[in-house]
Amino acid sequence: MKSTRLLFRIHYLSSPTTKYFYQLNSIQSRCLLHTSLSLMSKDMTKMNLIEEHPHVKTMSKAIIQHKQSDDYMMNHEIYSEKELNDIKITHKKFESWHDRVAYGAVRTLQIQHSHKTMTEQQWLRRFIFLESIAGVPGMVGGMSRHMKSLRTMRRDYGWIHMLLSEAENERMHLLTFLELRQPGWFFRGMVLFGQGVFFNAFFLTYLLSPRICHRFVGFLEEEAVITYTRCIEDLDAGKLPAWLTLPAPKIAKNYWKLSENAMMRDILLAVRADEATHREVNHKLADVGPDAPNPFLIQAKQAGDPSALQEH
Ligand SMILES: [Fe+2]
Ligand SMILES: [Fe+2]
Repeated sequence: MKSTRLLFRIHYLSSPTTKYFYQLNSIQSRCLLHTSLSLMSKDMTKMNLIEEHPHVKTMSKAIIQHKQSDDYMMNHEIYSEKELNDIKITHKKFESWHDRVAYGAVRTLQIQHSHKTMTEQQWLRRFIFLESIAGVPGMVGGMSRHMKSLRTMRRDYGWIHMLLSEAENERMHLLTFLELRQPGWFFRGMVLFGQGVFFNAFFLTYLLSPRICHRFVGFLEEEAVITYTRCIEDLDAGKLPAWLTLPAPKIAKNYWKLSENAMMRDILLAVRADEATHREVNHKLADVGPDAPNPFLIQAKQAGDPSALQEH
């Protein structure tokens, strides 16, 4: 029987990124479960019903397995020790005016890393603000492409899930750091204002030029990798003593499948690796442009066959 199962494969990216997209293979079925579960009555998951209605069988069995797994999150990267420590700072050279506009926007927003020595609390404040912003582009991109698919009545060719997964990943960064610091009302007001401005600006820009937006995110993630690298270096140099013995919050241990004795440093390594993945992905999306199929998506047995993308 002709299989329509899709696999992700990357020929030109680093190992963590490759693994990330390979794991994304199961996102579609899992998202189906997420959206269907609350709509189904308890009886729908009973095995006798499954036997009576074969077309429900596969989904219901999967729901039961899904419930047992107790994991509601979209698939994301779990890194090996080597992958965590192999992350490099990189910078993409400008190739077009899109790139210059995108980089100019990053510079204008002054999101670059700071050279000042910062305390633990200052780092947390910076992380929380940046992550509250970083969760916007993936959601806007995914939403925009979803809407475009609806109004143009054309397929998306594999971008939407990937972008939504990125947004969730950034939100988990934020939730992790919020376990360590609860912002006050002024900070929350700044986040509210920042989100209002950035969401609308990014959304309008995405309608005009998705290419600039993905390049912008690529450059933003370059800065994020630098920021987290600098923080890890400060930690290793003993400049952040409170974090040397700070255990990782449970939410982070669960999300990245860290060991029970994981520490703050393990979180910083995992977040940095995520940012490096976003960096490579968004630069590649900007390279191929919005009308190309997801460059990371190919059919396992029929590479290059356009029909491989027919379900997206
Ligand atoms: Fe992040
Ligand atoms: Fe990121």
